[in-house]
Amino acid sequence: MHKRFVGKVAVVTGSAGGLGRALALGYAKEGASLALVDINAAGLAETKALVAAEGAEASTYVADLGDEKRIEALGAELCAKHPKIDVLYNNAGMAYGGVTRMIDAVGLEDWLRYLTVNSLSPLLVSKTLRPSLAAAKGVIINQSSMASNMPSTVYGVTKAMLNSMTFGMANIFGADGIRVNAIEPGIMETEASANALPEETKQRVQGMQLLKLHGVPDDIVNLGLFLSSSDARFITCEVVSCDAGNRLRGWRH
Ligand SMILES: NC(=O)c1ccc[n+]([C@@H]2O[C@H](COP(=O)([O-])OP(=O)(O)OC[C@H]3O[C@@H](n4cnc5c(N)ncnc54)[C@H](O)[C@@H]3O)[C@@H](O)[C@H]2O)c1
Repeated sequence: MHKRFVGKVAVVTGSAGGLGRALALGYAKEGASLALVDINAAGLAETKALVAAEGAEASTYVADLGDEKRIEALGAELCAKHPKIDVLYNNAGMAYGGVTRMIDAVGLEDWLRYLTVNSLSPLLVSKTLRPSLAAAKGVIINQSSMASNMPSTVYGVTKAMLNSMTFGMANIFGADGIRVNAIEPGIMETEASANALPEETKQRVQGMQLLKLHGVPDDIVNLGLFLSSSDARFITCEVVSCDAGNRLRGWRH
């Protein structure tokens, strides 16, 4: 197996399950040491055990990424432990439930929570890890969504803002040789998406894809690992869709 991350450190947020866990395992299989961050302690412990089964090291950090003070403390701890951080994958996000409401159906308090977790925390985490990312000339990936093309939903707006944030971060962090890109998954089969999205929605979205395929976490892992490897050394400031061509037709309510 091609091992692109031997001796490297990857921080994956939202890695208690779903795409984050799949990404953590992907980096582990290619030789990385992992720092796993999530609000869900039990899920983190499970991911850590799975990473260990791949023969890789992992440390876990329970943190609410909606809390700036907690992010600052986490960043200080991670930078002290890892003077070089090669990859930060900002995958944590609120994708299901209330965040999928229409933009005119959510009060300010909820709006601020969704924006903080989905759009601002990737910036805040990246800022606190900047010294170690700069030391490694590392890579940041922000987990956006195909839903960034759906500005009538709160979720869509938070991901559209994350795309814009990606361009700004690439501009600013590029001074330290840090690359910053975003990935926009289509509907990918995770436990959370399987539970939250009605079959009718999944079929409708799949019907809009140019390729009639079922998205799986490995589709995102393959792209994420490529973008964070030296194979992509000349790629920054990009938002890359991984949605079987859904983007062309859009997703209308
Ligand atoms: N699965 C899909 O179809 C799909 C499609 C497009 C984008 N995405 C994005 O991919 C990411 C992962 O999605 P998933 O399907 O694996 O969902 P998921 O709910 O399994 O994963 C999200 C993770 O983020 C964590 N998290 C949420 N709020 C947090 C907070 N305040 N602090 C720390 N951790 C927090 C959760 O505990 C969870 O482990 C999300 O950003 C989502 O928006 C997923």
